[in-house]
Amino acid sequence: MSFLIFASSPNKDGLTEECAKAAAEGIRAAGADAETVYLNDEDIGLCQACARGWGTCWEEHRCQVEDGFQAVHEKTKGADGYVVVSPVYFGQLSESAKAYFDRLRRCEATRGEQAALAGKPVIGVAAAGGSGGGIVSCLDEMNRLFSHLRCSAFDMITVTRKSRPYKPAAIRSAAEAMARQPNAG
Ligand SMILES: Cc1cc2nc3c(=O)[nH]c(=O)nc-3n(C[C@H](O)[C@H](O)[C@H](O)COP(=O)(O)O)c2cc1C
Repeated sequence: MSFLIFASSPNKDGLTEECAKAAAEGIRAAGADAETVYLNDEDIGLCQACARGWGTCWEEHRCQVEDGFQAVHEKTKGADGYVVVSPVYFGQLSESAKAYFDRLRRCEATRGEQAALAGKPVIGVAAAGGSGGGIVSCLDEMNRLFSHLRCSAFDMITVTRKSRPYKPAAIRSAAEAMARQPNAG
């Protein structure tokens, strides 16, 4: 089994990275493969709302804007489950997460139950290093995204400055449990 971890912070030594590492450890402890995709490094631009909003994503389930999106989309299709770690920016997902998942949603949500992510488990992690304000709206945004992608939330985890000492262990445990029962999605 293989799992993808999406890390969507520009920082490689911050809270998002700590959470992504904890998730990878948990997945590997279950004997599964874990790969982290650093969305800020993938040259994924914004959705261009082609054809007045009805581009190839709707009928052909592929994005016609050629950039780093296609390779990550293929990787996403092949994985058995996911961990999405986003820093909380203004109570929302980070820009790199929005850029990728907006385009993924257009390609996959239009496939209904045939969506590549349908029924697969996902753990959402909202990593707020600031006040922690907006962490709930960030998780809510992830929750809506997961529902459009038809994947199944195995767990939704918040991390703040105050909970940082103990939450990485919870992320590790959740990821291990998910990787041990990937069909529990
Ligand atoms: C543009 C921006 C907006 C932010 N908005 C929030 C916020 O709404 N709530 C919060 O608790 N922290 C907020 N933060 C703090 C980030 O959540 C925090 O820096 C987080 O740890 C970033 O993860 P990193 O260490 O992986 O970069 C914001 C940071 C930035 C740069």
